[in-house]
Amino acid sequence: MGVTREMWCLSALYSAGTHEAREAHEPVVLSHMGFMRLVSQMGLSEFTRGDPIFADEAVLRDTYRPDDLIGRDEELADYQDAIQPVFNNAPPLNVFLYGQTGVGKTAATRLILDRIEADQAKFDDLQVHAVEVNCKSCRSSYQVAVDLVNQFRSKDEEISSTGYPSGKVYSLLWEHLNALDATHCLIVLDEIDSIGSDDDILYELPRANDNGHVDDPLIGVIGISNDFTFRDNLSGRVKDSLCEEELHFPPYDAEQLRLILEHRVEQAFHDDVVDYEVIPLAAAFAAAESGSARQALKLMYKAGKLARKRGLEEVTETLVREAKSLIEEGRVKDELESLPTQSQLTLYTLLQLEAEGETPCKRKQIYERYRLIAKMADADIVTDRTIHDRLSHLRLKGFVEHDERNEGKAGGSYYLYELGLQRDVVEDALRENSRVSELFGEKEAEPTLDDF
Ligand SMILES: Nc1ncnc2c1ncn2[C@@H]1O[C@H](COP(=O)(O)OP(=O)(O)OP(=O)(O)O)[C@@H](O)[C@H]1O
Ligand SMILES: [Mg+2]
Repeated sequence: MGVTREMWCLSALYSAGTHEAREAHEPVVLSHMGFMRLVSQMGLSEFTRGDPIFADEAVLRDTYRPDDLIGRDEELADYQDAIQPVFNNAPPLNVFLYGQTGVGKTAATRLILDRIEADQAKFDDLQVHAVEVNCKSCRSSYQVAVDLVNQFRSKDEEISSTGYPSGKVYSLLWEHLNALDATHCLIVLDEIDSIGSDDDILYELPRANDNGHVDDPLIGVIGISNDFTFRDNLSGRVKDSLCEEELHFPPYDAEQLRLILEHRVEQAFHDDVVDYEVIPLAAAFAAAESGSARQALKLMYKAGKLARKRGLEEVTETLVREAKSLIEEGRVKDELESLPTQSQLTLYTLLQLEAEGETPCKRKQIYERYRLIAKMADADIVTDRTIHDRLSHLRLKGFVEHDERNEGKAGGSYYLYELGLQRDVVEDALRENSRVSELFGEKEAEPTLDDF
């Protein structure tokens, strides 16, 4: 049996006194310093080696690179087809790869790059150079261009992300590319949606050969995004140049997630630690919510960590349910904190309509209520189109769900929207984190536009 925290504290206090005091069972009076030292030690136990739950927990982390992707045969075959011109020594096709978060876009790209690296060695007249940039922290095409330039430079020669005119950064980039000893250069721009509407680089790079900036090597761009609105909003000239091949990775279903999890759990956990019903449950949860392999893996990892923390011998269904709530709370909290104000207001609008029993409802109704709420919050009132984009974005994050209705020729088709999370989860997070928190106190009476 383990020593409880209370027992440990008592024994620490007890042993801190004098021998006589202990013998006489007298209360021990500690100096302030002694007390502070004890308080700072409370709860810490000795680190030991060994883990009764995990055999190799790194297998469940996002940084782990799987050797193979389960349930992606068709998508990988399409991906390889798109790359095939490179092996025929033709100019590469520019590829736009999109799909929701956690569906294997980055993992597939890494496998493809590994494959290219291994197979090109068989051809004397082929030398493919790959550059991979994660654009997550890039807010503009300019910053992506700076990142790319720095990919070709040593640490001490890197250029700063401010201070150079954009024309100069591009010309440095063309210089580096022209200097490459390669027949082809594939440039992977992952999470490219971070650049927002400034998509200049997505025109410049795919056109670098045609526009005479780079003669040799032949340039191919692979743009990756999980933001569907970004794809829809790409400018016409970018769509023409970047999206020569569009690849879509759909969300995984419960069966695919089950297979993915089974494979990883076998390596990550010790034998007989994971209850047999746990994997299908975790797969079903992740399939219902997002179809994301990342989410399914995270759920198993969290459940395993809960078991380890509590000194349990098994990862049970109950732990998976608990892990799910904890992850959801954490995710909602984190993501709500970073949502732009207009998205928070959209969410607040849905929250209110839901509380009134008005959901699922049409976008028109959401927009009408949103206008009142934005006015109350003293925020800009954006267009119906922007709110539509915000709703799509919130849907991607799993905060909102929609259902398509079709009323034939007369009514046409439309979507009905509702919250994708429990009301109290959203409400708690909005109250605590968001700028709309003040609205909660104010809105007992039903406002109309006449109130303003
Ligand atoms: N088919 C699969 N088989 C095994 N593991 C997978 C599969 N698909 C995804 N994974 C794992 O799920 C996690 C998320 O995958 P990945 O990073 O490729 O997602 P993504 O589509 O790039 O998501 P995001 O848009 O958020 O960047 C990774 O740990 C990856 O190894
Ligand atoms: Mg990714």
